[in-house]
Amino acid sequence: MKIGGRPYRTIWLAEDGWRVRIIDQTRLPFEFVCVDLATVEEAAHTIRAMLVRGAPLIGATAAYGMALAMRADPSDAHLASAQALLRATRPTAVNLMWALDEMLGQLTPVKPAERAALAYRHAAQISDNDVAQCRAIGEHGHHIIARLWASAQQQNPAIKVFNILTHCNAGWLATVDWGTALAPIYVAHDAGIPLHVWVDETRPRNQGASLTAFELKSHGVPHTVIADNTGGHLMQHDHVHMAIVGSDRTTANGDVCNKVGTYLKALAAHDNGIPFYVALPSTTIDWTLKSGRDIPIEERDAREVTHIAGRTAAGAMETVQIVPDGSKALNIGFDVTPARYVTGLITERGVCKASREGLVGLYPERTREAAE
Ligand code: MRU
Repeated sequence: MKIGGRPYRTIWLAEDGWRVRIIDQTRLPFEFVCVDLATVEEAAHTIRAMLVRGAPLIGATAAYGMALAMRADPSDAHLASAQALLRATRPTAVNLMWALDEMLGQLTPVKPAERAALAYRHAAQISDNDVAQCRAIGEHGHHIIARLWASAQQQNPAIKVFNILTHCNAGWLATVDWGTALAPIYVAHDAGIPLHVWVDETRPRNQGASLTAFELKSHGVPHTVIADNTGGHLMQHDHVHMAIVGSDRTTANGDVCNKVGTYLKALAAHDNGIPFYVALPSTTIDWTLKSGRDIPIEERDAREVTHIAGRTAAGAMETVQIVPDGSKALNIGFDVTPARYVTGLITERGVCKASREGLVGLYPERTREAAE
């Protein structure tokens, strides 16, 4: 994706060919700052403190974290401790565990002296694959948008715009490029469908207000940021034609875990007969879990609820308290939308029902793992 006319991915190698460069997403949308990571500890901190976030990007960063670790010390002991450090950074997005298992599968059988070069190669491949998968999600999702836009026009020939609601940030900032939920929006917008996106602000960290709005604005997609509780009202008044969200972990039965609040949007969409799609690459599917109830849900620091960050009129970035001194707060990061509320899953291989049969239909090689 382009920022200021210049193409960017969210993770790449610095000019020295070994440091890992990322965009510090905690500074967006006000400051565009890149950070170079030189150690696995820095990579772990970057994921934990959410300088990078979003399921596929967490996986890619962990893969590069393993490359940094192997460059410093390729021993078996360090291989084990580095992957354990990275694995403990965030619990819900399964791309993290997937990427680390991939890296371990590559690195464990080879001699220590060969590990660093192999780790960099494989991390690059994980990143490239993510870009290709997200691009394919964009194409498949575009077809759905085009079909729904055509049927909206048939029902109401005076319609001027197709309204899509999204939650959190599942755009290119959450992946290596393109995004998951936003990829179909970019492709459809570029193909000339007159889209407008309702952007849930996504408290407490406001990934919608800060990151999704930043992305859509950079790409020229018309959008409006709304308070999280607004979507239901808009749906009741025919101002939403479709919802698309991403996923941090989708279980073998099609249950979808995503940023907290997704479930309530799915319920409202269901009540109003609005298509609710989830876009995800197969690296987000946890074939080992039979139901969303088994997904570990991240609980983060309550300070993210009691405080809010923003820019002052003077241009400084500041964090202020918004609850009374002493009030307790709870910060649950994700929720699970049961498969029955999901109209379809948009993957790199195409669109399927949110069910075991649907997923196995697209990924027949997973039939045994997905068995009940
Ligand atoms: O806590 P975050 O910002 O990492 O949560 C991100 C989301 O919930 C995204 O919707 C999800 O990772 C899908 S992104 C492609």
